[in-house]
Amino acid sequence: MQPRSSSDGDKLARLHKQASEKASLIREKASDHTILLASHFDADGISAGSIMLSAVNRLGSVPHLRIIDSVNERILDQIEAIESDLVIFTDIGSGYLEIISKILRNRDIVVADHHQPLGEPGSNLHHFNTHILGFDGSEEISGAGTAYLLAKALDSRNTDLSAMAIVGALGDQQDKGPERRFKGLNADILKDAIESKVIEVTKDLIFFGRQTRPIHRAIASTTDPFLPGLSGEEDRCLALLDAAGIPTKVDDRWRTISDLSLEEKSRIVDKIIEHTISSKFPGEIVLNLIGSVYTLTREEPGTSLRDAREFATLLNSCGRMNRAGLGIAIGIGDRGESYQQAQQLYSEYKTQLSKYMNWVATAPNATRTGKNVVIVNGKGIIDESMTGAVSSLISSSKLFGESKVTVVTTLTRSGEAKVSTRATEQLVQKGVNLGKILQNLSPKYGGVGGGHAIAAGATIQSSELDGLLGDLEKSLDEVLA
Ligand code: C5P
Ligand code: C5P
Ligand code: ZN
Repeated sequence: MQPRSSSDGDKLARLHKQASEKASLIREKASDHTILLASHFDADGISAGSIMLSAVNRLGSVPHLRIIDSVNERILDQIEAIESDLVIFTDIGSGYLEIISKILRNRDIVVADHHQPLGEPGSNLHHFNTHILGFDGSEEISGAGTAYLLAKALDSRNTDLSAMAIVGALGDQQDKGPERRFKGLNADILKDAIESKVIEVTKDLIFFGRQTRPIHRAIASTTDPFLPGLSGEEDRCLALLDAAGIPTKVDDRWRTISDLSLEEKSRIVDKIIEHTISSKFPGEIVLNLIGSVYTLTREEPGTSLRDAREFATLLNSCGRMNRAGLGIAIGIGDRGESYQQAQQLYSEYKTQLSKYMNWVATAPNATRTGKNVVIVNGKGIIDESMTGAVSSLISSSKLFGESKVTVVTTLTRSGEAKVSTRATEQLVQKGVNLGKILQNLSPKYGGVGGGHAIAAGATIQSSELDGLLGDLEKSLDEVLA
């Protein structure tokens, strides 16, 4: 890790000062007032909500928690109707400061978030945003990490909650340092997790289900990185193992990745590189398969919760399959029945996602390709809670190459248009900032939007969708000219 300069030291001092100011307010309210928590519905948001719920519980207060998929007037009216003296938003809110301050004008509000902010908060809104404090919220701190900083400011014994902050950061794909390590504030949080013995880091092959699944299923279940011709293709993975001379069973028991010797692992990697290059994809994709593996030491060995990346995927499945409450139960420590249910949801989520991916790859009118975009029209097909997952997967699968922004659209149950966009690191380096583009354009089309440079979304009036998409393409053409 790079040594920190004195200006980094100043930034950190400001961050911790702000965290302790917000913590004082939360502590004061927790003593004899009611607190309402609101958090985003994806893996990071569920992790953030679980951290705040645990931290506030430990103060002796029993807060309510609402998981929300967006911030708008309807949702804020519902929050307004719930009795509370303090509302704490995590992993959501920084793009919606004015409307939150206005509708919840009779409450104290804390917004703890890592999204690109917009507007000015009212005097009742206490904003804790890592971007404003100079820390890049798309790659060095997640919503869960931001919530963890508050939890730690509330009580220094809360360092065990760092495990969930790491789960949230993995859910937001922030393991983008060399060998899938963390950068910046995430690396500091990881240090807390290692010191408090809740996480161990080792270097290994990063396949989904390293310790729990037969090897061919672990390879086929891996979508980050996406392995062309292997992700989602169990039979081809079996054939690859056969070609590499790897026995898949010992007696009647399936072997797992963690049963393999170093030599066998390197034979598998060589075969995957060979396969990737022969499918005309760059062999470097495979490098992302080797790197830091984060083991949650307090979890039962042999369960998917023991691996922090798999934990995040389970939470994401809960949120996106409309069972965020189950995700929270797991996030605060429920196991047994909750874990079984989440496993079941994960398998339904995977089936749903591969149905959508097949449809995208084969339906003649599913996609339209422009110079810098590929647009998926998921109206009537893709559920509104799944657009982000589909967009992420299309983008990482490089189904349409690496040089286009992926845009997935659908119609919501209340008749609005929902848009989920994903760029690539390459495009962000060229200046693409999807969060800013959607923040600026959406109000023109009767809606709201925002997010990160690399991943952003919007909800607008459905009759205005073509207008927004046209303007989005124009903005991208200008940046990428
Ligand atoms: O609201 P939040 O910040 O938690 O969501 C960020 C979203 O962006 C996540 O769904 C995450 O998976 C996605 N993402 C992505 N590609 C990246 C970084 C984030 O698809 N490189
Ligand atoms: O919904 P989706 O997963 O595509 O969202 C991508 C990112 O954009 C997330 O970080 C989400 O919080 C953010 N977003 C936002 N405002 C919206 C929609 C999405 O800030 N209206
Ligand atoms: Zn987040």
